[in-house]
Amino acid sequence: GGGLQQLAKPWHLDIGTAVQPAPFERDERYRTTLTQEFGSITAESQLKWDVLQPAEGQFDWSGADALVGFAEANGMAVRGHTLVWHMALPAWLEKGSFSPDQLRELLRSYIQATVGRYRGRIGVWDVVNEPLADASGQLRKSFWLNALGPGYIADALRWAHEADPQAKLYINDFGVENLNRKSDALYTMVAKLRADGVPVDGVGFQTHVTIDTPPKTLRDNLRRFADLGVEVAITELDVRSAGAATDTSRSGQAVVYAGVLRDCLAVPRCVSVTVWGFTDAYSWIPHAYPGWGNACLFDDAFRPKTAYGQIRQVL
Ligand code: XIL
Repeated sequence: GGGLQQLAKPWHLDIGTAVQPAPFERDERYRTTLTQEFGSITAESQLKWDVLQPAEGQFDWSGADALVGFAEANGMAVRGHTLVWHMALPAWLEKGSFSPDQLRELLRSYIQATVGRYRGRIGVWDVVNEPLADASGQLRKSFWLNALGPGYIADALRWAHEADPQAKLYINDFGVENLNRKSDALYTMVAKLRADGVPVDGVGFQTHVTIDTPPKTLRDNLRRFADLGVEVAITELDVRSAGAATDTSRSGQAVVYAGVLRDCLAVPRCVSVTVWGFTDAYSWIPHAYPGWGNACLFDDAFRPKTAYGQIRQVL
């Protein structure tokens, strides 16, 4: 007790974090901070297709089972991440020579096996991840669009719904935090899916940002999506800076973290804020953005940073 999740309870907000397999298995400090602070877990890789199905026809649920079991034992929720994505595809699938009909059947059976296995245990799924192209507002020219055409999004949502009718089904993307062309396209997509009766319950805003690019129109953007009747969630928040951390970068980071949290709190249908890793010791940022780092709430020695204190203040 006493962590962020406890402070967030009265707001009916879940505070979550992405969890990496290696420290989850081996680092006691990591597990301690995880259970102390957070109420929800997103698997950083344990629920991706390449991990779950390393060979055709062969599932390996061990990592996912362990994470879901841990969450249950500690009273934490799980956000299932993610079912349909152009990345983390197993090589046998991506490089295989399948017909469109076969790929459609592979996707359907994968979604239904995965959602079905955790039916009633994983309450939220990022069914479709990053369906939009970076800035154009078009659908991303991805493996799935090429194989199945634009209907893959509605199909995936319907298949997931069949496998667990209670689960909340999300579309998740990045660069859609602000009012912009890409979020306009996402808005149009979600409005159309809802009008067509497709089961979409929520929209996830990844929110990988820098200390110099706070999402200034996030609140208005969250509101317009909420007005479509869906939940909204901050799903992958981190706030990176270039080079070594300084007092200035740390206070700048705190302002951005707190601002995102306030924007979510201002929108009643904003149900969760998930950080994409909680300690700089295991952040994906230095790998994905060389030269950048210090993006998390705790430093690489698990000491809470200014941003952590600022978030407590807001809550
Ligand atoms: C990232 C993980 O953090 C890395 O460890 C992994 O190597 C690649 O994927 N958007 C997403 C996440 O939806 O799944 C990504 O996670 C980060 C960007």
